[in-house]
Amino acid sequence: MKNFKKYLAPIVLSCATVTSAQAGEVEVLHWWTSGGEAASVAVLKDLLEKQGHTWKDFAVAGGGGESAMTVLKSRAVSGNPPAAAQIKGLDIQEWADLGLLTNLDSVAEQGNWDKLLPKVVSDVMKSEGHYVAVPVNVHRVNWLWANPEVFKKAGVGIPNTWEDFPAAADAIQKAGFIPLAHGGQAWQDATLFEAVALGMGGSEFYRKAFVDHDMDTLKSAKMVEIFKAFKDLRKYIDKDSAGRDWNIATSMVINGKAAMQVMGDWAKGEFVAAGKKAGVDFACLPAPGTSGQYTFNIDSFAMFKLNDSENAKAQNALAKTIMEPAFQETFNLNKGSIPVRSGMSRAKFDFCADASMDAFNASAATGDLVPSMAHGMSTTSYIQGAIYDVVTNFFNDESLSAQDAVNRLAQAVKAAM
Ligand code: BGC
Repeated sequence: MKNFKKYLAPIVLSCATVTSAQAGEVEVLHWWTSGGEAASVAVLKDLLEKQGHTWKDFAVAGGGGESAMTVLKSRAVSGNPPAAAQIKGLDIQEWADLGLLTNLDSVAEQGNWDKLLPKVVSDVMKSEGHYVAVPVNVHRVNWLWANPEVFKKAGVGIPNTWEDFPAAADAIQKAGFIPLAHGGQAWQDATLFEAVALGMGGSEFYRKAFVDHDMDTLKSAKMVEIFKAFKDLRKYIDKDSAGRDWNIATSMVINGKAAMQVMGDWAKGEFVAAGKKAGVDFACLPAPGTSGQYTFNIDSFAMFKLNDSENAKAQNALAKTIMEPAFQETFNLNKGSIPVRSGMSRAKFDFCADASMDAFNASAATGDLVPSMAHGMSTTSYIQGAIYDVVTNFFNDESLSAQDAVNRLAQAVKAAM
């Protein structure tokens, strides 16, 4: 008996270690397929695999994640959702209401998430007070990315307001460059549109329109003005923009074909992946008219209920890893976002990230921290989809007036509510 214990115990123990180290597999659905995004998600895969678990990649290409969400729905309908899926904002709640998400409270408690996360973030990760998702980062959406060389050649400064934009853009066009790099996809149109709305309307207006869905605001003269200014930007976008991916648009700024792009700071991930330096090779400024304002977009993974206990362990390890400093730092350096976890060192972060961290704190204090409509933070995907349709149809249809767009917007939002 003594011998049995002596010889078997280590074997059982080593088997136990091997089992927990090998067996857990997590299938992770995400839409991070551009250069900067792929480098970022590789950090998570690597950290998870170092713990002995297996990462099953489920990448669905398509910026903004619309295609990924369609695929997720069909997998869920067939009763086979992945262990983790990149689901954001109010949609987390919708998935939790279906009873499909797993409770992460014990991981959250051990990791002290309640203390480490701003309440505005932790609230969104919970359903009925229980964690069902884990946040990855904070992206600022209202950025203008610029190639300083192009501005130098055109002899103009980078515009600070939408009112100043046309003069600068005209000069850039005259100098033979594309003023605005853009991809004609609904979510990119919506990203540009919300930047114009925030810059021209202000935070209060933005909140009333896209958070409260206040009909008077949606139908206001201000909104007509915003749609007009938005449509005016068309002439600064090249004719090949239809269907172009966002990162291809970013590469036009990187290689000096275009002067600017209005895009969230995942665009910085592309500059960084191309070996470019913030403040030297590229400039990051708040989108015109939005200095002091901050449209936030938080990436997060919701975790689905699993039957296999080893896979559930791997899933917990994934959730735990995401909130740990090592991941928060390296991932966000690659991704262009800032850590969601408080108390992180800023030492390795560049000028743009520093500016984002400062603006996040300052805007929270002044009421200028607003959720991104285009990135699913301000409303559910139903209402967001309705807004997308109006915005993109208007932007691409010469025959529609700004007044038509406003009428349609109010109608579409009302119907989707
Ligand atoms: C996501 C980012 C992603 C971007 C482009 C956004 O909605 O939050 O993480 O990089 O879409 O795909």
